[in-house]
Amino acid sequence: MLRFDIITIFPEFFREIFDYGIIRRARAAGLVEIEAHDLRGWTADKHHVVDDRPFGGGDGMVLKPEPIFAAVEQFAGAARREDYGAQTRVILLSPQGRVLTQSLAGDLSKNAKHIVLICGRYEGVDERVAEALVTDEVSIGDYILSGGEPAAIVLLDAVVRLLPGALGSETSAVNESFSEGLLDCPQYTRPPDFHGMRVPDVLLSGNHGEIARWRREAALDKTRRKRPDLLK
Ligand code: ADE
Repeated sequence: MLRFDIITIFPEFFREIFDYGIIRRARAAGLVEIEAHDLRGWTADKHHVVDDRPFGGGDGMVLKPEPIFAAVEQFAGAARREDYGAQTRVILLSPQGRVLTQSLAGDLSKNAKHIVLICGRYEGVDERVAEALVTDEVSIGDYILSGGEPAAIVLLDAVVRLLPGALGSETSAVNESFSEGLLDCPQYTRPPDFHGMRVPDVLLSGNHGEIARWRREAALDKTRRKRPDLLK
């Protein structure tokens, strides 16, 4: 069982997201447990303030450290990353993190039992969060979102579908794009001839050796055309 605790100022944003498809199935099967928590729940003041102006001046607001430290301490059992259990990861979603890859998703699905996701907001998060609490700072790509929430959903989806038993058959994550550093080969279903666009004959041949060879070549060819950077 893998548990996700998501720390956010918009817990409602996640309400229905986890009720569809593979994530819903994985939850129903007891493979994963997911909860989104309102950061304001760890504020002590009357107005539940979670942000403040940056020291030194400048535009925008910065998420304060105290509520985030208190929330992480509750979920991870400690307020310093050295003191977490070995299978606990505290992840800050931010455009400054390392870019999420299939390999990081695989690492998390294999090695983590508890993942705490901190959704950044506004102009930033007090640096002491990254210094003391965060085990992994992760970006989902080189562009700026208005907050970490969509990134948290992307990361969670990529990890949950790799949990053993989450997909229909155990092998379906093995032969897909990126699993060998290549894009997946083209896939076809019926009809074999659609408005004159024909499925490659080899796929209808029943010759499994030939089909495997064709798929390998087609995957290489597609990767060369669409994502040559993956071949380097
Ligand atoms: N927050 C803002 N932009 C982000 C990105 N690209 N990835 C993760 N979190 C973010």
